[in-house]
Amino acid sequence: MMTIVLEVLEGCGASALRECAAIGPATAVTPTEIQLKAEQVSAVAALRSVVAAYGAISTQTRRPRGLLETSVQQRTAQLWEQITHQRPRRTFTGLRLAAAGSDTEEMRRIADALSELTQLPVREDGDLLVRVRRTAAHDGWELLLRTTPRPLSTRLWRTVDYPGAVNATIAASVVDLLDVGADDAVLDMTCGSGTFLIEQSHRHAPRRAVGVDVDPQAIAACRAHQRAAKQRGRIEWICADVLTGPIEGTFTRILTNPPWGMLHGDHATNLALHRDLLVRAGQLAAPGARLGVLTQEIRRMRALLPEQPGGWRLVDEHRFFQKGHRPALFILTRDPHEASNGPQAV
Ligand SMILES: C[S@@+](CC[C@H](N)C(=O)[O-])C[C@H]1O[C@@H](n2cnc3c(N)ncnc32)[C@H](O)[C@@H]1O
Repeated sequence: MMTIVLEVLEGCGASALRECAAIGPATAVTPTEIQLKAEQVSAVAALRSVVAAYGAISTQTRRPRGLLETSVQQRTAQLWEQITHQRPRRTFTGLRLAAAGSDTEEMRRIADALSELTQLPVREDGDLLVRVRRTAAHDGWELLLRTTPRPLSTRLWRTVDYPGAVNATIAASVVDLLDVGADDAVLDMTCGSGTFLIEQSHRHAPRRAVGVDVDPQAIAACRAHQRAAKQRGRIEWICADVLTGPIEGTFTRILTNPPWGMLHGDHATNLALHRDLLVRAGQLAAPGARLGVLTQEIRRMRALLPEQPGGWRLVDEHRFFQKGHRPALFILTRDPHEASNGPQAV
C-alpha cells in the first residue's frame, strides 16, 4: 500500500472522503488535505471532488537531504514508474520543485537527482509538480510527486470559458451533498455552462436531467460541454427565463447557482432573484423534493429563509472556500405532503 496525498478545496473534504471509501482507508489530515492508502496511484484518477493527487515518499531524517539516500531514491523510482505507466499514459515535459527554500543548494541537489531519475529538465513551468515538506508529525521529510501533468480538477470537457462557471470540484461536491440518485428528476434552474449536470452525469445518469438558462450562449456552452464529456444519459437544455418559461413536470432535486456580483446582472436585481427562484422552485418541486442553492449572497439568503419562500425549510448550510470566493450551499426541503403551488406566475 502506498500513501497518496489528496489536495481538496475547503468544503469538499467530506465528499472526497466518500469517494475515497471505494479505494482504501482515508483520513482528513486538515480541511484541505486527505491521506489515502491505495495499491496504485491510478486508483485516484477518477476522483471528482479532489483538486490534485500526489504519491508520497517519506523519510525520518533531520534534513531534506535524507531524501537523496539510495533506499529513498529506489522508492521514488518505483513511484515514478507507477505514475508514468497509468492508463491512459501520462507524459510530462518538465519538473518543477515547490518547496520552502527551493533555491538553496540542498533543494537544488534534490531537484537534480529527480531530474536524472525522471529524465525531465528542471523548469519553472514544469508539469511534474514535486513538493518537498516536513512530515505532518515533524519527524522527517516528505517528497510528493503529483500523479498527473495537470491537476485532477482540470476538466477536459470544459471547452468554453463561461463567466461565473462554478469550480468543478465544488460542483461535484454539491451533487454529492444533494444526494442525487438514479431515480431522481433533477433541474438546474440557472445552469450557465452546465457544470452541475455534467458533473452529475459522471456519477450516474438520473431518471431525468433538465438545465435552464436565459442566456443562449450558456445553452450553447452546455451542449458543447455535454458533447465533450461523452457521458451516458440525456440532458434537456432549455433556453428560457426559468421564472416564467414552460418547464414540464416536477423535480425531486432542484439546483440553482444564481448570478452574483456584476457578471450576469446587477447586485440589487440578483438579490430579488433569490426570492423569486425559491418561490419558482416550490412550484416545480415534487413532494419531499430537495433544493440546493449555491450562492455568494449568504446574508441575504439567511434573511430570506424565515419567510420560507416556496415552502422551503433549511436542512443544512455548507460552506466552501476557493481562493477569494466563499460560497455557501443552502440545502432546503419541503414537507413531503406539501403539493407544488401550481404553475401560476411568480
Ligand atoms: C453564476 S451563473 C451559473 C453558472 C453555472 N453554475 C456554471 O457552472 O456555469 C448564473 C446564471 O444564471 C442565469 N440566469 C439569470 N437569471 C435567470 C433566469 N431568470 N432564468 C434562467 N437563467 C437565469 C445567467 O444567465 C447565468 O448563466
